[in-house]
Amino acid sequence: MKMSKRVENLPPYLFVEISKKIAEKKARGEDVVSFAIGDPDIPTPSHIIDRLCEAAQQPENHRYPESDGLPELRKTIADWYQQRFGVSLDPETEVLPLLGSKEGIGHMAFCFVDPGDTVLVPDPGYPVYSVGTLLAGGRPYYMPLLDRNDFLPEIDKIPTDVLRKTTLMWLNYPNNPTSTVADIDFFDRAVNFAQKNNFLVCHDGPYSEVAYDGYRPVSFLQAKDAKEVGVEFHSLSKSYNMTGWRIGMVVGNPTMIDALKRLKSNLDSGIPQAVQYAAIEALTGPQDCIDEHNALYQRRRDLVVEVLNSMGLEVRPPQASLYVWAKVPNGYTSVEFANDLLEKVSVVVTPGVGYGKHGEGYVRLSLTLNDASLVKGLSRLAEWRDSKNRFKPKV
Ligand SMILES: Cc1ncc(COP(=O)(O)O)c(C=O)c1O
Repeated sequence: MKMSKRVENLPPYLFVEISKKIAEKKARGEDVVSFAIGDPDIPTPSHIIDRLCEAAQQPENHRYPESDGLPELRKTIADWYQQRFGVSLDPETEVLPLLGSKEGIGHMAFCFVDPGDTVLVPDPGYPVYSVGTLLAGGRPYYMPLLDRNDFLPEIDKIPTDVLRKTTLMWLNYPNNPTSTVADIDFFDRAVNFAQKNNFLVCHDGPYSEVAYDGYRPVSFLQAKDAKEVGVEFHSLSKSYNMTGWRIGMVVGNPTMIDALKRLKSNLDSGIPQAVQYAAIEALTGPQDCIDEHNALYQRRRDLVVEVLNSMGLEVRPPQASLYVWAKVPNGYTSVEFANDLLEKVSVVVTPGVGYGKHGEGYVRLSLTLNDASLVKGLSRLAEWRDSKNRFKPKV
C-alpha cells in the first residue's frame, strides 16, 4: 500500500524498543511499574462528573455541537484567565475551545506554516510541536534547552538566516519534559524578539495549575503585548484530571484564533456538549481539588527525588509540572539506563532522548502513578542502587 510521504516521513516512534520490552515482560507475567506516562491517576473530581452525567441526559446535548464551542464555555474561559492571571480576553474572538490541546497544537502548523518555512521548537520538547511542523511541510529548528540556561532557549543565539525563514516559535512552561518554569521577564523577551523578527509565538501551558511549595506559574499572555504576537494553549487535562474527556483551549491573538477556527470547522464538529458543561463546572466550581492534588504530587515528588539522589542521579526538585527530570549516572545513555532499570528491576522510565537530541543524558519520571505503585517502584529503584553498591570495588 502506498502511503503519503507526509506519513511515511514521520519520525519513528522512539519508545518502540521499550514498549516491546514492557509487552514481553507483561506476557511473561512479570509485574512492571511504570513512571512513563503523564496521565493523572487521580479520578476527575466528582462534582465535574456529576455535571457531565446530568448534561449527557439532556437531548439538546446529543446533537452536533458548534465547532467554536458553547458561548458560556468561551465566557467561562475568559473569566478564568481574568481571575487567575489578570489577562482580559474577548470570549467571541480571543478564545477557542479544543478537543484537548494536542489537536490544536498539531493543527496550528497548518494555519501558519507553508512548505519550506522554519518553526522554532524546543529540544527536548513535547513531540507534537515538531510533528505538526513536519506534517505541514515546515522545517523544525531545534532550540536546545540546557541545564546551564535553566532549560530556557537562548533565543538571541538563533542564526539570522534561520530567523529570516521563521514563521512560528513554540514555547512551553512549566516545561515537559524538563519541568522548568519561566518568568514574565523571559516571556517579555520572547515577545520582543518575535516582534523584531516578525514571527508568531505559540505558548503551551497545560501545567500552569500543577505547582509546588506555593509557587504559581505565570501565563505567557501576562507579558506586555503578548496578544499581538501570540496565543497560549491550555487544557483541563492536568488541572482537573480530565485527560480522558478531551477538552482544552487556545486563547490570545484573534487572527491566530480565527485561522485555527476556520481550519477546525472543516475538520471536526466540535467538542461533545456534555464535556463542555463539565469543563464549565471544572473552571467555576470548587477549586480545592487543585491544592489537594498538588499536595499529593508534592509528597510523591519528594519521595522520588530522595530515592533518585540516593542512586547518584542529579535532580532538581521541580517547582511545577508532573515530571522529575533526572540526569542519568555516568557511563549510561538515557536508553541504556532506562533499559537497565527495566531489565533488572522492572521499572519503566522515559529516556530523555525520546524528546530530542538534547534530552540525551536524562530520564523523565512521571508522578502520576498511584501510591501503592509508587512505593513499589521506589523500593525497586533502591534495590537497583543497592545492587550497584554491592558490586562496586572497595578502595
Ligand atoms: C506539554 C504538553 N502539551 C500538551 C499536552 C496535551 O494535553 P491534552 O491534549 O490532554 O490537552 C501534553 C500532554 O501530555 C503536554 O505534556
